[in-house]
Amino acid sequence: MRIVRSVAALREALAPARDEERSIGLVPTMGALHQGHLSLVRAARAACEVVVVSLFVNPAQFGPSEDLESYPRDAGRDAALAEREGADFLFGPTVEEVYPPGFATTVAVAGLTDVLCGDPGRRGAEHFAGVTTVVAKLLNMAQPTTVYFGQKDAQQAIVIRRLVRDLDYPVAVEVCPTVRDADGLALSSRNAYLSPAERERALGLSRALRAAEARVAAGTTDASAVLAAAHEQLGRAGIEPEYLELRSATDLSPVERVNGSTLLALAAHVGRARLIDNTILAGPRTKRIES
Ligand code: PAJ
Repeated sequence: MRIVRSVAALREALAPARDEERSIGLVPTMGALHQGHLSLVRAARAACEVVVVSLFVNPAQFGPSEDLESYPRDAGRDAALAEREGADFLFGPTVEEVYPPGFATTVAVAGLTDVLCGDPGRRGAEHFAGVTTVVAKLLNMAQPTTVYFGQKDAQQAIVIRRLVRDLDYPVAVEVCPTVRDADGLALSSRNAYLSPAERERALGLSRALRAAEARVAAGTTDASAVLAAAHEQLGRAGIEPEYLELRSATDLSPVERVNGSTLLALAAHVGRARLIDNTILAGPRTKRIES
């Protein structure tokens, strides 16, 4: 695996692959790699001839009161993990390389970014503008044929699909399933902030999602009844959610009834960690119409 730090070096490194029209998979990350990230690298390795992992803690997507300074960083460990998964290139630019002096452009997706995590009282649409600006740049820098994201950040994946569609990026977007610990906790770099007791409480998030899934599997479609099942589990864990909402899994519009592609999205603070999780609810089993 080769480590490259500049856009010029990345372009040069990928030029032969591009000339030979080989498939290039890009896995954008902010490092502190765990099995969630590595599942994306594995998916890219299985499908693409060349695999690029980017590692950049993007200041533009952190709010002033967020954890940019303390965000876990371990470049040596990340490089070893990416190499072990068979990545060909690790692209780790500096902040100055991505945002040179005078940088003045923002790429923002309207509408989808002012709900859930993008609500003005939460991370705000500026968070997603930070994400879409850096992803727009990474897509131009690496010019991959496929780019990989995790379902763990469901809203981010929906926003990026829209970015790619709206700006005609010639890239396929692959969204890979959420990787969880054996006890159900979704893997996250921010789980490192949890004390053992907080980690136990944090299980309330995945339990809430499972309870909602069970309620839907038992035939309930009414949104408030499905949400009540999730709230009950959160209450048991002493978790007050920042949000717990049912929305369309394609355009994030609010839904009153679970209908097969409904996103149940959840954010909550546990200790100093802000955790998010989600599930796509399958919806009621449709009766087969006999002809
Ligand atoms: P980061 O939080 O490092 O996540 C990088 C990618 O890993 C994202 O696509 C995220 O959804 C995925 N991921 C994280 N935890 C996962 C899990 N438990 N299972 C499956 N996939 C998981 O998301 C970002 O970085 C940034 O916003 C980025 C897209 C890199 C732009 O800066």
